[in-house]
Amino acid sequence: MSPFFLLLLLLLPLSLLAILSLITRPKPTKIPLKSRHVFITGGSSGIGLALAHRAASEGARVSILARSSQKLEEAKESIKLATGVEVATFSADVRDYDAVSKAVEEAGAVDVLVVNQGVFTARELERHSVEDVRFIVDVNLVGSFNVIKAALPGMKARDDGRGARSIALVSSQAGQKSRPEVTAIIAASSGSMKTEEVARRAMNGIKAGKFTVSCNFEGFLLSLATTGMSPQRSFWLAFLEVITAGPIRLVALFFQWDWYNAIEKWSKTKNK
Ligand SMILES: NC(=O)c1ccc[n+]([C@@H]2O[C@H](COP(=O)([O-])OP(=O)(O)OC[C@H]3O[C@@H](n4cnc5c(N)ncnc54)[C@H](OP(=O)(O)O)[C@@H]3O)[C@@H](O)[C@H]2O)c1
Repeated sequence: MSPFFLLLLLLLPLSLLAILSLITRPKPTKIPLKSRHVFITGGSSGIGLALAHRAASEGARVSILARSSQKLEEAKESIKLATGVEVATFSADVRDYDAVSKAVEEAGAVDVLVVNQGVFTARELERHSVEDVRFIVDVNLVGSFNVIKAALPGMKARDDGRGARSIALVSSQAGQKSRPEVTAIIAASSGSMKTEEVARRAMNGIKAGKFTVSCNFEGFLLSLATTGMSPQRSFWLAFLEVITAGPIRLVALFFQWDWYNAIEKWSKTKNK
């Protein structure tokens, strides 16, 4: 290989890195948790509860919101027992804007809002009723809008001099509960994770001010493949996104191939 070609091979990625370090926005930031107000919807069980435990153990003032008062009380007790921190609880349905707004007002201005509630009834499309879909959209989409709309003015007005405030939306790579058989087979290929581990990674991502926080390698690949017009704080990650865009598509096609094989196998055993 000629020295000129070698130099070109080295210069190309270096120039790309230099350009990305200039244009990558927004700039890196940190979201401190200590002595700050963390408000978590769906904080009475699962990932939300694990996030509440984590925030409390890092010295945050924590508020959790969910519908069932009993589950909220149990969550409060478990956090008190594990961390000694008394969290504030709010019983409200995220579909009810007035109830959410009242809870947020009572809780006081928020520094870190974690919109975590989510429901999913996984079944084949033709077996879903319109009511099922409305319910999912109301809780996951309209509910999240209600929570953010209620909290945002207070978050914007608040400046505790301790750094940026943050809104995190917890979502799923694919619905992973009460899923139809074939989805279960596909989802099984990515393995399952412990709730505490998901909460640890999610909270670390929030503190680092990341736009997308993936909890496993497949999620990371998915985030690279779908990054599109998303902001990126790290020029190293921007570099990775630029150079892996094509190869990641190839990896995605292998995943699709594997999933189609699983579907074909499943169809054959079902039709026997
Ligand atoms: N578990 C998984 O495998 C998985 C995987 C990927 C992503 N996720 C995502 O992670 C988030 C949490 O999932 P999870 O499995 O930890 O949930 P979960 O254990 O079922 O807990 C859901 C929480 O949301 C609350 N909630 C449900 N409907 C509500 C409503 N209408 N208004 C207010 N609160 C409501 C529940 O309390 P009440 O019922 O008392 O209201 C509970 O606190 C979801 O957004 C989900 O999509 C989960």
